[in-house]
Amino acid sequence: MAVDYTTHDGVAVITLNNPPVNGLGLSTRAGIVDGIERAQNDPSIKAIVLTGAGKAFSGGADITEFNTPKATQEPTLATVIKVVESSAKPVIAAIHSVAMGGGLELALGAHYRIAAPGAQIALPEVKLGILPGAGGTQRLPRAIGLEASLNMIVSGAPVLSEKLADSGLFDEVAPGDLAEAALAFARKVGAKEGPHPRVRDRQIEHPNAAGFIQFARNTVSAMAKNFPAPLKCIDAVEAGVQNGFDKGLAFERECFIALVQTPESHALRHAFFGERAASKIPDVPADTPVRDIAQVAVIGAGTMGGGIAMNFINAGIPVTLLETKQDALDRGLATIRKNYEASVKKGKLKPEALDQRMALITPTLSYDDLKHADLIVEAVFEELGVKEQVFRRLDEVAKPGAILASNTSTLDVDRIAAFTKRPQDVVGMHFFSPANVMKLLEVVRGKDTAKDVLATVMKLAKKIRKTAVVSGVCDGFIGNRMIEQYIRQALFMLEEGALPAQVDKAIEKFGFAMGPFRMSDLAGNDIGWAIRKRRYQEHPDMHYSKIADRLCETGRFGQKTGGGWYDYKAGDRTAYPSKVVDEMIGAFSKEANAERRKISDEEIVERLVFALVNEGAKILEEGIASKASDIDMVYLTGYGFPLYRGGPMLYADTVGLYNVERAIGRYAARPNGDAWQLAPSIAKLAAQGRGFNG
Ligand code: 3HC
Ligand code: NAI
Repeated sequence: MAVDYTTHDGVAVITLNNPPVNGLGLSTRAGIVDGIERAQNDPSIKAIVLTGAGKAFSGGADITEFNTPKATQEPTLATVIKVVESSAKPVIAAIHSVAMGGGLELALGAHYRIAAPGAQIALPEVKLGILPGAGGTQRLPRAIGLEASLNMIVSGAPVLSEKLADSGLFDEVAPGDLAEAALAFARKVGAKEGPHPRVRDRQIEHPNAAGFIQFARNTVSAMAKNFPAPLKCIDAVEAGVQNGFDKGLAFERECFIALVQTPESHALRHAFFGERAASKIPDVPADTPVRDIAQVAVIGAGTMGGGIAMNFINAGIPVTLLETKQDALDRGLATIRKNYEASVKKGKLKPEALDQRMALITPTLSYDDLKHADLIVEAVFEELGVKEQVFRRLDEVAKPGAILASNTSTLDVDRIAAFTKRPQDVVGMHFFSPANVMKLLEVVRGKDTAKDVLATVMKLAKKIRKTAVVSGVCDGFIGNRMIEQYIRQALFMLEEGALPAQVDKAIEKFGFAMGPFRMSDLAGNDIGWAIRKRRYQEHPDMHYSKIADRLCETGRFGQKTGGGWYDYKAGDRTAYPSKVVDEMIGAFSKEANAERRKISDEEIVERLVFALVNEGAKILEEGIASKASDIDMVYLTGYGFPLYRGGPMLYADTVGLYNVERAIGRYAARPNGDAWQLAPSIAKLAAQGRGFNG
């Protein structure tokens, strides 16, 4: 049963009991209606308390039911709320922990609300690409006023119950035992004559509602860009203000039905579940014991080591930071301090927190200081010989059971593990630059990595607010292995007729934060050059355009040298198309006997994105990633793939794998077509009419 019904001296208590968050799925909804009716029919009951068991009042509608018959099967949430609201006996919502989305809307349908302090109150629907669809856009403005409600609805951000104590939402915010307080309150109002107050009957008071709504619309339309939901939230609130509750409610319903079917909402829900699914590893049970991580050490205080250390410090975990030389250590510490100072300046960090955070770092030049660390993350130069030295030394000094992690981006984690006598304790923790900012953490599972090591690192990732995705060992892991195919295509297209600005513009219009050439100029073209040089040795058979090497030979490494694929002016990061480079590209095509042709923006997007998809499919086939949504999470959180498209694999599903297969077939038959080796799973799934995500 998803709902419990008990009675306590004249008060019926209906308790939602649908773990984990009392989502309002069909059986829960039906249970609430049953409970209300039972209470109506029992003359000994004077009042009804509605509450939630476990860790939530309610997390809202059951998102897994969206776009399934259960979502619209009666009793719908709208019906449930009507039943609650029209109950002759007063209904009191007793709110604790979480009241979100449909959960809050349900509570707004009750006659009275009492809350425990610390409860998170939100209408977060907008984050899922929808709007509150069970009266939230109509009742919340009537409960807490136009401005405060519009802020909550458009941002989706949670507000603590105590902050809303005087807002008109709650009749009481009561510390202490909520159940007791709710029963006492119920007895009090149960003794009163009805009818009991309904939020829908309140007025929205505002001196200039139309002006405020217009202001909100201007602000939101500038920010919402590719997302239709935020503006629809405003439309729905406005409908209620202008036309009254019932018309507003009908309009809200219309908008909800339209939004829930948009690709943007589908993508956002995919990301919501993808993030949670990523933390689950198929053969590592949820109850795997984890190791205690109270102290961390980081080896190397360079670009990555400093940022990595900050993640732990921000979570209150002390870090020992080791370098080989005092000046490198001083430089690393100074950079960390500078980053915190910048946060203080921006008002994101309290001034006193700066010293507290810095005090959590113990700088050292001695490996002896690492013997108490529970986790050691190595971020030294990307050379196997240097990694070998470090890991052999760590094997000597680290305490038994310490986790030894490498931040390597290209080296073989199994070879690194083999430098120790404890390969089961070795794992890759691949952070992205800047490591204190980027959400993504690829957790690289070696062939011997112990399950509890993985479970520990995944749990720790949550603590330091990273989105962790497990990758098997392969060249480039998930993200960089895929991006290589994308960059290969970008370079081929230059040879075949495109120019950097056209390629960048086309893919940025698709929604990427930055096109491949602007990105490469930012990161430094020399980095890709070094990787390609290694590739030419390791894979002499692999076909690359040499056009980027030609650029690098002229010393155009990007922003840091004042020129790369684009020209840059001192102190200005704007990328200006470069006549010199465009001529160089033309000359290169001539030498390579490549006939330059007009390449459409559609072709650019297809070749770049399908290159990711095709490699992603191979990564799944090889078991490097365990599910398609893991790949999408890597691209959404680490590579600037547009969130409203849900990641490359979901995008491929949206286009249809049949169409992806046909496009790849077309490109494979053209010049440079040897770069396209269709992943067998694409053909197989297309033939079955399926996608990567089912
Ligand atoms: N429907 C279905 N499942 C849900 C859910 C929901 N509304 N909310 C959370 N879950 C699931 C998660 O998928 C996860 O499942 P798993 O354990 O199998 O991975 C589990 O509940 C726990 O979730 P979290 O890991 O996120 O747990 P936290 O304790 O960190 O957070 C929470 C709890 C704050 C409720 C958070 O889950 C959350 O923000 N949920 C989304 C809330 C939301 O968006 N509600 C609006 C729904 S839409 C709606 O109500 C429409 C209405 O207007 C008609
Ligand atoms: P970096 O050159 O900025 O820093 C490396 C630091 O390690 C230097 O401060 C150096 O003094 C120190 N060091 C070298 N040998 C050492 C040793 N034996 N003991 C202790 N310290 C030592 O390099 P960066 O960019 O921070 O890279 C570090 C690692 O992170 C590499 O494995 C790299 O592949 C990886 N990485 C880099 C990313 C980036 O964008 N820079 C992204 C993801 C991973």
